[in-house]
Amino acid sequence: MDINEGKPEIHAGLEGIYFTESSVCKVDGQQGRLYYRGYPIETLANSSNFTEVAYLLLYGKLPTGQELDAFDAQMREERSLPGEVIAEIGRTAARAHPMDTMRTAISMLSAYDAEAYNDSPDANMRKSIRLISKSASIAATIGRYRSGKLYVAPDASLSHAENFLYMLSGEKPDKVDARILDVMFTVHAEHSSNASTFGVLVAGSTLADLYSSVTAGMAVLKGPLHGGADEAALRMMREIGSADNTERYIDDALAGKKKIMGFGHRVYKTYDPRARIVRSYLESLLSSPYEEQRNLAQIALSAEKLMIDRLGKAKGIWPNIDFFAGPVYVSLGIPAEVFTPIFAAARMAGWCAHMLEYWKSNKLLRPLEYYSGQLDLDYVPVEKR
Ligand code: ACO
Repeated sequence: MDINEGKPEIHAGLEGIYFTESSVCKVDGQQGRLYYRGYPIETLANSSNFTEVAYLLLYGKLPTGQELDAFDAQMREERSLPGEVIAEIGRTAARAHPMDTMRTAISMLSAYDAEAYNDSPDANMRKSIRLISKSASIAATIGRYRSGKLYVAPDASLSHAENFLYMLSGEKPDKVDARILDVMFTVHAEHSSNASTFGVLVAGSTLADLYSSVTAGMAVLKGPLHGGADEAALRMMREIGSADNTERYIDDALAGKKKIMGFGHRVYKTYDPRARIVRSYLESLLSSPYEEQRNLAQIALSAEKLMIDRLGKAKGIWPNIDFFAGPVYVSLGIPAEVFTPIFAAARMAGWCAHMLEYWKSNKLLRPLEYYSGQLDLDYVPVEKR
């Protein structure tokens, strides 16, 4: 039999395939628009905050004042981490990749949650709030330990972003810095069926519990083609060194068929609206009193111009959210290795929202692969091979 007989059309990377319906998020890759539960990302970034956005994603509607207060109080209460999780972060933070430490810590949380295996919708909602709140504490604690400093306990009087900066630096943060970080959390919170959310859903579709599902998401987010691109983009900017070197660096990289991290997207074939929001902070960094910040902003903006010129219109490769994030985080005193953990802590909201929605009409996710190997081979005993 010809094994190529009846070969189906293969959708490499599942590109262009719809596998479910969702009302969590709309990404319009042609127009460069993004909506969480129907609200444009620009409106949420300007007028809302991460805590309200997490509520919106989980419950599908904006909260009333009372609902928001209750949700915010729950988020603040859930910030603390089990002692064993803090100890484990301390044991591995210095030698493991921060995303590996964070993946392990998120997974460990299940052992300290009495509701870990209670899969009722109410328990899953409570676990989602715990996960969103504690994942930020985990990310900050990893950064703290990696800089060789002692653990800082969360402070319930601070907002989500303020508390993150406090747990990372040990100092009460500047309000403006905390607001910028809050916007970073907001724009990273959700993005439809991106690779890590799909990973969460694949795990959860087997009816594995919520902790197992988001741990799968952690693993998927790590890679440089997805969440790891923010750290990789900053590394590249540091390698470029100064804006004068950008053109040579980019042209050499493109000639060598290297990808420029922080550019291109499976869905956006125009400017990523999140990148536009993050980019707006770079303009002010151009006049920063700190040379490193001015330099990074100059490199990022010159690389953007060049890439749009070389590949933007020609190939539909535009900056994505990860490209401008690095210089902004650096200006907030956040080290590069914590960038992807911050992304994970923000995306936890989207992962949980999607998982809770998908479980309402769960279907095991199990695509097909087309077998192109040989068949009915003769087995030759090892001594005769
Ligand atoms: N730099 C240079 N060329 C690129 C880039 C880039 N960043 N991205 C895509 N291309 C080119 C590819 O080389 C390919 O060219 P070819 O047709 O001549 O072979 C073409 O554009 C298509 O690229 P694919 O990788 O096949 O497109 P895909 O949709 O599979 O990939 C992806 C999307 C993975 C995001 C890709 O653009 C990429 O690798 N970008 C860099 C990593 C990155 O920034 N990831 C973060 C994405 S946003 C996020 O996850 C939060």
